[in-house]
Amino acid sequence: MTKREQSILIINDEKNSNNELFKTLRERNYQVEFSNGEQWHQLLITRTYDLVIADIQLCGVDGMKIVAEARKIKTSPAVIVIASDATIKAAVAAMKAGAYNYMTKPIKKEELLTTVDQYFMQRKPKSSNFKNIIGKSTKMKHVFEMVETVANSKATVLIYGESGTGKELIASAIHYGSPRKDGPFVKTNCAAVPETLAESELFGHEKGAFTGAIKDAKGRFELADNGTLLLDEVSEMSLSMQAKLLRVLQEKEYEKVGNPKSVPVNVRIIATTNKDLKTEVKENRFREDLYYRLNVVPIHLPPLRERKQDIPLLIDYFLKKYSCENNRNNISCSDDVIDALMEYHYPGNVRELEHLIERSVVICREKVIRPKHLDVLFTEKPYTKANIKVVNIPAETLEEVEKKQIYKILKQCNGNKTLAARRLGITARTLRNKLTRYNGEDSKKNNDPE
Ligand SMILES: Nc1ncnc2c1ncn2[C@@H]1O[C@H](COP(=O)(O)OP(=O)(O)OP(=O)(O)O)[C@@H](O)[C@H]1O
Ligand SMILES: [Mg+2]
Repeated sequence: MTKREQSILIINDEKNSNNELFKTLRERNYQVEFSNGEQWHQLLITRTYDLVIADIQLCGVDGMKIVAEARKIKTSPAVIVIASDATIKAAVAAMKAGAYNYMTKPIKKEELLTTVDQYFMQRKPKSSNFKNIIGKSTKMKHVFEMVETVANSKATVLIYGESGTGKELIASAIHYGSPRKDGPFVKTNCAAVPETLAESELFGHEKGAFTGAIKDAKGRFELADNGTLLLDEVSEMSLSMQAKLLRVLQEKEYEKVGNPKSVPVNVRIIATTNKDLKTEVKENRFREDLYYRLNVVPIHLPPLRERKQDIPLLIDYFLKKYSCENNRNNISCSDDVIDALMEYHYPGNVRELEHLIERSVVICREKVIRPKHLDVLFTEKPYTKANIKVVNIPAETLEEVEKKQIYKILKQCNGNKTLAARRLGITARTLRNKLTRYNGEDSKKNNDPE
């Protein structure tokens, strides 16, 4: 989910909590609270924060004390210290005591955002990542086996599959299942970084390397040293960046923008793509040599429609998750909703199913989600196939086709309903219901006087 709810406590004694600098954090969906030099400790022990930003000059509290108190708390939020020239020594002492970072005034919005974003990006999840990957289909079992096998090695992994199939989830499972699990897990979305900034994003830059490079900046490779670097949507990287990436993979060293000195690096690479890289190679959009470097261990994530056995498990999992998140007692789905969800083709895969469940939990005011709660969702494009099933759009012809197909398969299965239902990809119950309905309609037709 893209929802971001990380909470930040800012200790700065600033009367005006609408301070421009911190507004930017709110705009990025961080929850931000303020405290002066007196209440901070009370807040820290009574509420839960993921990060504390302390302006030690303004709040007049010793940074080391804040770090020490934060460490005593079970969730142990990280501390970023903001210092002025006069307090720089105290900030360095706070760093030595275990502060996450310190920043010196004047602070630019971008600088603050980068530091905060980077902290949350590198932060380890609170629980093991294997627990939240659902799947019992043969295809997913195969994926899990691959994950376990590759996690122990340092081999480069290429995870490919349609959008929303869980590529990022699998990448993090590899990292957190690997001997590097205590090192950083750093992600970069190759599609989101503009070409002009891509090199600095990956390799960092030195102050003055280009206009706007006002201070040294670490690149993703440096941040991921001794850990794992996830290159998301790697097919979107420009050809010139591909050449630079290839070099790091071969030489295991890189140069920062603006400094010719090579820096050695120890990083495990995981790349993801929802494009077919072989086609990209054929059409000269992706370097063949880089493709082979990345494709050392390929892992394919099958689309959800090819692993329908996982759908009921995922429905259950997301129902629990969103019932809990929305403070609702365990909500369930009616059988016809489950049937419709089983039959749907999911162009957006697991992410789409997750959103469908989340939205219906929010809409549903009862204990059971029924087709009417999904109407809203299914009438929206592109849910074409499901439209016909759930919303009552007159669709005689399609129903006719469906009926014919059902009878055909039943005949092929010598009337064995369980077998026929399996081949049709529906539950035996749905098949029985349909047959009962057809029988009713047929006998009605036969009895209707013309
Ligand atoms: N097997 C699974 N079990 C539980 N949740 C899953 C599973 N697969 C995917 N999800 C959830 O579906 C959403 C999409 O997953 P993820 O971001 O890993 O997909 P992706 O393949 O990287 O998609 P994209 O190509 O669009 O980046 C996430 O919220 C993820 O937690
Ligand atoms: Mg992804």
